[in-house]
Amino acid sequence: MYRIAKKEVLVPNTIYLKVEAPEIAVKAQPGQFVILRVDEVGERFPLSLAGWDQKDGMIEMLFLIMGRSTMKLAGLQEGDSIMDVVGPLGGPTEIESYGNVLCVGSTFGVGPMVPLIKALKEKGNRVISVMEAKDEGSLFWEDELRGLSDELHVVLGDGSRGKARQASEFLGQYLEAGNKVDRVFAFGRVFMMMQCSRATKPFGVKTIVALTPIMVDGTGMCGCCRVSVGDETKFTCVDGPEFDGHEVDWETLIKRKRAYLKEEARAFDLGQLEGLRRIAELSRLSGRVSAMEK
Ligand SMILES: Cc1cc2nc3c(=O)[nH]c(=O)nc-3n(C[C@H](O)[C@H](O)[C@H](O)COP(=O)(O)OP(=O)(O)OC[C@H]3O[C@@H](n4cnc5c(N)ncnc54)[C@H](O)[C@@H]3O)c2cc1C
Ligand code: FES
Repeated sequence: MYRIAKKEVLVPNTIYLKVEAPEIAVKAQPGQFVILRVDEVGERFPLSLAGWDQKDGMIEMLFLIMGRSTMKLAGLQEGDSIMDVVGPLGGPTEIESYGNVLCVGSTFGVGPMVPLIKALKEKGNRVISVMEAKDEGSLFWEDELRGLSDELHVVLGDGSRGKARQASEFLGQYLEAGNKVDRVFAFGRVFMMMQCSRATKPFGVKTIVALTPIMVDGTGMCGCCRVSVGDETKFTCVDGPEFDGHEVDWETLIKRKRAYLKEEARAFDLGQLEGLRRIAELSRLSGRVSAMEK
């Protein structure tokens, strides 16, 4: 069992967790992830490592509440335990002295940006960070990222900060203005990573993205996480999760990620019904909840 030492709601649907997992903390490297199972009937799902402390034996993650499993995880409190946490999984980020490195993060992608920026700085890179969020109320860790980076740009979807409304738009404008960028890393929403890869391609700036297909075992056995990169089939859990964004077949990735939407919606509804049933039992309305399930 893996005890939750700290929980923080960063913005309404995004949660930060610090979890006791000493055997993962000693091996963790930037770019890696873990696979969790909240309880004995829970599904396995991956989350990126947003930090770790070898001395305290802690790992950090942040997640967006998307469906049943993340909702279940969000229901745990400090002192509660997660049943399984397996990792670190996936290959670590290739970190060298590139020069000017631009790191883009949206939603949960801001988490893995933190260890990445620290490692890039240790190698002497100049780091330009770009945070993308819907609006001011969806933004978190701005000060942390400003403190770690040489330059920070915030791009908000409502246009309230600067001209660009998407990170990819900012990236295009930044490169067109003649700024020298030697490498781009983009973490977070698939659409954002795809658009950033498209924005950098005409400028020939290598763009590394962290792919998030559906995963089950995380060890290369089930084939669930296969993606097409440069006309080759790769398993994201063992060959990735990071790939060259200019080589990724984005259309297939998006289609495969949406393959179980109906089942995921049903699982989410059933999860909510479980919660409702508990409330109904307490208020003697259980008959009405059973009728809703049919
Ligand atoms: C390597 C990797 C790292 C990730 N890191 C993070 C992270 O740090 N923070 C974060 O919020 N999210 C991360 N994700 C995505 C996260 O795993 C999904 O949001 C989560 O599994 C959703 O599960 P759910 O039951 O709550 O939602 P569901 O309703 O089941 O699914 C919502 C959407 O999440 C995706 N998803 C569902 N099940 C899985 C699964 N087993 N594996 C991967 N994707 C799935 C699908 O696209 C689906 O449409 C990562 C995914 C991968 C592959
Ligand atoms: S998750 Fe099964 S092969 Fe990658």
